[in-house]
Amino acid sequence: IFAWFQYSRAVDPVMYEPTTNKWHVFGYRDAVQVLNDAASFSSALERGGPIGTALLASTMIAQDPPEHQWLRALVSQVFTEQTFTRLAPRIRVIAQNLLDIVRSAGYMDAIQDFAYPLPMTIISELLGIPLEQRPAFRRWSDCMFFRQQERSESQSEQDEPYQQALAARQAMSESLLRLLQQRRQKPRDDLISQLLVAEVDGKRLSEQQLVGVCFLFWAAGHETAVNLLGNAVLCLDDHPEEAERLRHDFALLPGAIEEILRYSPPLLGVTRCTTREVVVGGKHIEAGQHIRVWIASANRDAEIFFRPDRFNIERDPNPHLTFGQGIHNCLGAPLARLEVSIALPLLLHQLPALRRVCRVPLQWVEGGTVYGVRHLPLEF
Ligand code: HEM
Repeated sequence: IFAWFQYSRAVDPVMYEPTTNKWHVFGYRDAVQVLNDAASFSSALERGGPIGTALLASTMIAQDPPEHQWLRALVSQVFTEQTFTRLAPRIRVIAQNLLDIVRSAGYMDAIQDFAYPLPMTIISELLGIPLEQRPAFRRWSDCMFFRQQERSESQSEQDEPYQQALAARQAMSESLLRLLQQRRQKPRDDLISQLLVAEVDGKRLSEQQLVGVCFLFWAAGHETAVNLLGNAVLCLDDHPEEAERLRHDFALLPGAIEEILRYSPPLLGVTRCTTREVVVGGKHIEAGQHIRVWIASANRDAEIFFRPDRFNIERDPNPHLTFGQGIHNCLGAPLARLEVSIALPLLLHQLPALRRVCRVPLQWVEGGTVYGVRHLPLEF
């Protein structure tokens, strides 16, 4: 996909695709223009395809001002930097436990054994999803995300995968509603309990908004944070000299994390819909048009980044767009950075001679939104 990005940036950086009736934005400055102008580029459109839509539609990620502002202010009250900082010791314990399980085997699947369970355990504990319900939550969201991506244009809503995804969505909503009821009666020290009573301008979240925001957090942890850890391992495996430098000098870690985020962003792009006629990169775009902003392409724009295809853990400045920009910039970015800053040194220190098992081909996540692999076999 990076070859297509490079070609498009050079040849047609703001491209109209007639077959899908969509616009594609590849360059950094154009991406920044779109992301920073919420009045002209709306976020209120189908999110995550038809299955995810109903759950995400009420959340801040799919809202425009002024609703967005209110929702974000409310959620920001409970989802603060302080919340994340307090999590650091817990992240360390979970990461250590996961490594202890695989250490003697000399082999692990970095995704299934480490990159998936770590952020999912953290977000589950933070939200307050009971241990025994987590496997079901994983099954449902796998079903919703996977099935949707496997669905081809020719399939209809009567198809079994689509119906299974709908059933999964229903089951997940009901489960979240039950949890909300339980916490309403007996609050605990978790985000769900805090979200129930949080208010801005004397207003609280509706039941539907509460289900939506819990799902948004779960979904954000489900794909993005998982793939950040997986992509970090892949980047360092592909660039052994950089990995070696990092192993010997962990002061380079913050820069290395930013470079991993720039070079291999877990989300390839985001979508907007024009609310009026606009000009982007010299092209006139009518109102009501869908625009795909390719973050991963903007992150490799040579106008902004010196030798952009080079992975350089000391790159400075590194103004990548991996967490978005403007009013929708990622609320979970500090958490994602914290998780990887704890997990990566543990991996590099504790599993000597760590390397990818190259005979097993990489299986990339399908769908064109998430950038990451399903499995990542490692030997050490
Ligand atoms: C929004 C990326 C992890 C919560 C976003 C956006 C991006 C993004 C690009 C902007 C979407 C848009 O403009 O339409 C990422 C990446 C992550 C990550 C790459 C991991 C490396 C997380 C985590 C959480 C989270 C762990 C929470 C548990 C959110 C929320 C929003 C958001 C709530 C919506 C903010 C708003 O609409 O105002 N994320 N995210 N993210 N992210 Fe993340």
